[in-house]
Amino acid sequence: MFENSKCIAKLAPSILTADFANLGETFRMFERHPSVGYIHFDVMDGDFVPNISFGAPVVRSLAGGAKLPFDVHLMVTEPARFVEGYVTESTEFIVVHAEAAVHLDRTLRHIKSFGVKCGAALNPATPTEALDYVFDIVDQVLVMSVNPGFGGQSFIPACMDKIHRLAEIRSERGLDFKIAVDGGISRANALAVAEAGAEILIAGSAILNAADPEAELAAFDELLGGTGR
Ligand code: DX5
Ligand code: ZN
Repeated sequence: MFENSKCIAKLAPSILTADFANLGETFRMFERHPSVGYIHFDVMDGDFVPNISFGAPVVRSLAGGAKLPFDVHLMVTEPARFVEGYVTESTEFIVVHAEAAVHLDRTLRHIKSFGVKCGAALNPATPTEALDYVFDIVDQVLVMSVNPGFGGQSFIPACMDKIHRLAEIRSERGLDFKIAVDGGISRANALAVAEAGAEILIAGSAILNAADPEAELAAFDELLGGTGR
């Protein structure tokens, strides 16, 4: 996990709490920091989660000028209906919730059919067993460390056990899916989450609600041993 004492985990800042009137500036800020590896888009439909955020037009409008790859988190019911809209030249991952896709295997394969990496997200109460028959398909497993739908919540410590278990499964089965952890991530828990096996640390309010987001990102660079892209 820590090659030559350098952490290989990367930040994926969530734009959910960003100033939507200045997203270009926010993206330029992300791009200045080696600890940032992705931009995380929290798509919420007001049905699977009790909030509505933004849809495909927003993601597509941002794709052209982006230097960082997109990690699109679909918190939507029956996500297969919407996947194609989020396929852009910047989209690296499209992540759907195991709890929201009746036909999860088919939905994951549908994402891959566009040449995009697929991910499955697990709510805090959902066990890893929910993915037993799709671990060989997924490119990412997203562990929700808060209950989805809102930024600014506290990290649920019980999720650490799930991260460890996913890292064990990955090793036992010789798989290489990435482990992402989403919700309540800050500099106080980032290293512990990375050491448990996560490579993608999704943080929204810890960065964008900081008094000085640029300084916070610089502190993350220091903490994660920003090794450049
Ligand atoms: C919650 C989202 C998270 C959240 C992260 O449903 O999936 O990405 O926005 O925000 P913070 O870091 O504020 O918990
Ligand atoms: Zn998210």
